[in-house]
Amino acid sequence: MPGNDPGRARAARDKAVMAEAFTAAGVRAPHTVLVRDAAGLRAALADPRVGFPCVIKPLSGAGSDGVTVVTGLADAASAADTARAAAGMYTSGGAGHILVQAYASGTEYSVESLTQDGTTTHLAVTRKQVTSGPKRAETGHSLPVHLPPAVEADVYREVEAAIQAAGIRHGASHTEVIVGADGRCAVIEIGARLAAGQIGLLIQHALGIDVWAALLDVALARPTALAPTTRGYATVRFVTSGRAGRLTSVCGFPTTGPGVPFVRQRAAIGGLVHEPGANGHRLGSFVVTGPDADEVEERADALLRRIRIHVEPVLENTGQVRPASTSAIAP
Ligand SMILES: Nc1ncnc2c1ncn2[C@@H]1O[C@H](COP(=O)(O)OP(=O)(O)OP(=O)(O)O)[C@@H](O)[C@H]1O
Ligand SMILES: [Mg+2]
Repeated sequence: MPGNDPGRARAARDKAVMAEAFTAAGVRAPHTVLVRDAAGLRAALADPRVGFPCVIKPLSGAGSDGVTVVTGLADAASAADTARAAAGMYTSGGAGHILVQAYASGTEYSVESLTQDGTTTHLAVTRKQVTSGPKRAETGHSLPVHLPPAVEADVYREVEAAIQAAGIRHGASHTEVIVGADGRCAVIEIGARLAAGQIGLLIQHALGIDVWAALLDVALARPTALAPTTRGYATVRFVTSGRAGRLTSVCGFPTTGPGVPFVRQRAAIGGLVHEPGANGHRLGSFVVTGPDADEVEERADALLRRIRIHVEPVLENTGQVRPASTSAIAP
């Protein structure tokens, strides 16, 4: 059956191999240094092509686990430890190896694409809501985004170069880019797969494209139906706690209904919750769809504001809890 180039498969799993493949193919991407030890870390941080802020991350993480934006030398050692400790899903590099990457500033998007016989169709551009600060966790996705034509052309050119660099000939891809103030994009990473984070569902509701059926068609070398059958918008919000502690209650979670096709609440009352630092810290999510992009965003934000999360701080070592406090989640 048709498939991707097996010789390049690691370029879509191991971010060090990915960075090499991007450089070889001329993909515009942040300068990336593979760090093996303390001397390597010092050298990477002194490299003028990296500078501060920079990003320290595991070779093969996902869900932002172990990724830290570092603003100065003082934070680098602990960020390196965090990256080393993050158990990568697909680790193939040596033990303790991590990446130090130049920081790309701008607005974050992903491009959801399907490639068949080497021809790529971009299904949607997705805008990300991401936390600021040292830990970047995604708090929402919205699509389709209509970029200015020149920016879209630049994004698609770089994404197509990344797709080729990762050897994607028959299959889905999810490419994360950051578009700077100058309208030029940097490719952060590519996954040779459909996007996670309910993006497939958003495409289904906003554009009427069944990405799973389409992917099956690509795998079976059948003609695919990739043209939108509806012209709407969809967004997902990930619900997170503003503070760490023990979850005592969650109120006001939306329920499914017209324009709200999906709701998932996954945090257990009594369990420990964290400030958003990785996708694993989500307490739930919901999807909002509709014909108008602004209305979809406003409705999602309004539903998010209604959710009340009560968390009791946990005192370390004693296991005792302080009196309950309440934190409304921030959009
Ligand atoms: N070089 C960079 N410049 C600026 N921001 C970055 C850079 N690398 C990572 N980030 C930020 O950190 C987030 C997580 O990084 P990255 O995508 O590499 O990790 P991940 O574990 O694959 O995350 P996910 O599975 O959520 O995509 C990015 O979505 C982005 O917000
Ligand atoms: Mg990523």
